Amino acid sequence: MLEDSKNPYANNGDANAMPATGRPGKRVFIETYGCQMNLADSELMGGILSQEGYTAATSLEESDIILINTCAVREKAEERVFGRLTHLLRFKNENPNLILGVTGCMANHLKKEIVERAPYVDIVAGPDAYRRLPSMMIEAQKEESDPLIDVRLDKEETYGEVAPVRSPGITAWISVQRGCDKFCTFCVVPFTRGRERGVSPEDVIKQCRDVAERGYKEVTLLGQTVNSYKWGDDYDFADLLADIVPIDGIERIRFTSPYPTDFTPKLIETMATHDKICKYLHLPAQSGATSMLNRMKRLYTRDEYDVLVERIRDVIPTIAISTDIIVGFSGETDDEFEETMDLMRKHRFDFGYLFKYSERSLTAAARNMPDDVPDEVKAERLKKIILLQEEISGEVFQTRIGSFQQIMVLGDSRRDDDQLCGRTDDFKMTVCPKPEIDAKPGDLINVQVVDATSHTLIAKLV
Ligand code: SAH
Ligand code: F3S
Repeated sequence: MLEDSKNPYANNGDANAMPATGRPGKRVFIETYGCQMNLADSELMGGILSQEGYTAATSLEESDIILINTCAVREKAEERVFGRLTHLLRFKNENPNLILGVTGCMANHLKKEIVERAPYVDIVAGPDAYRRLPSMMIEAQKEESDPLIDVRLDKEETYGEVAPVRSPGITAWISVQRGCDKFCTFCVVPFTRGRERGVSPEDVIKQCRDVAERGYKEVTLLGQTVNSYKWGDDYDFADLLADIVPIDGIERIRFTSPYPTDFTPKLIETMATHDKICKYLHLPAQSGATSMLNRMKRLYTRDEYDVLVERIRDVIPTIAISTDIIVGFSGETDDEFEETMDLMRKHRFDFGYLFKYSERSLTAAARNMPDDVPDEVKAERLKKIILLQEEISGEVFQTRIGSFQQIMVLGDSRRDDDQLCGRTDDFKMTVCPKPEIDAKPGDLINVQVVDATSHTLIAKLV
């Protein structure tokens, strides 16, 4: 889970991106919160806006328009954005013509509540409203304009043919699906992003070819339940992956996040068959107790999740698996929590993204299920699973000592100028000394692991 803000639009400096210094009145700064899908959406907004002559602002100070692309999954994420908006008010006071917009999931979750709490916000635009951003901006620039709110959801919108302005790097995010049809009782995403729909395979392949030509070495396919992707009656996610494999220049293919019940034997086989498809899976479990999974309306039991992980590991023994867990959801008993601890011990996930339940209005849980686990209990349980996962990650990382790995170079190590960092095929951050011939980001280099912490592998060149 990406926690921090990044600004692919404003920081974009590669040749195919729009120029970074532009006409006054049209300089936009996009700040992104939340998941990878939001990073991809910010790049999409960049694409739509650059078509209309907007350019990237290099700083908040020189911006004519600031867009905050937001996340609504937990209360903390939303509160952080309100804090940020208060901070940005300073820029509005200094420049009365500045337009401030809130885009993304919070727009659809809170709608006009955003402008009630932050009346100086000019634009509220949900995930399906991005094509209308340029016209909203023109409208907002008129004097005395009321805040503009566009949170219409659109069952058809995929932005499939829109060329995003991508942030430079080695990984290109490719959204292959939007929305979600699962309606887990705790989750606001189906309400903020609407119904599930896939981007056509032609558009996905075209985007992959395009990024390969522009020098990206890795693609990460994105969707809320990415493996439920279907196109027509007989084309599924495994077919899509297999069709991306032959694209020259793309060395690694990743995807996130699959949903357990949509994980077909065909998909496991496809992953096993192709070296380019990375042997790393983020497979959200949410809980280890069937009774809890039922209340969450996850569509599998604990046993079914266990069987799936075992089947995947049988076919791909080297696979790394991470998961998402929520503690303290409605009615969670000590026994149910223990079953989650048991799930973690059993599968020994490489990483865990661990959360306290945060009630979200609109969801089935908020309507029908009490948020009845006291916050101290949630906090205590969270602490326990964090400690357990740290211990397991430490042990799992230790088992890699001595192994040979190929890492894709990301850049210089943050801690040491003589070292570089990269990721293994199974997504582990690795540091190693720089080779004599300079290694560029995106290069694949062979290393042997000599030491490990619970987050990082330490390697030597071989
Ligand atoms: N299907 C998506 C999930 C989006 S939300 C995907 O993984 O791509 C990401 C994670 O946030 C979920 O897997 C869940 O563990 C957590 N989450 C969602 N709603 C939550 C809530 N109300 N409180 C706490 N955590 C939540
Ligand atoms: Fe949310 Fe469940 Fe979909 S976690 S995004 S409703 S699969």
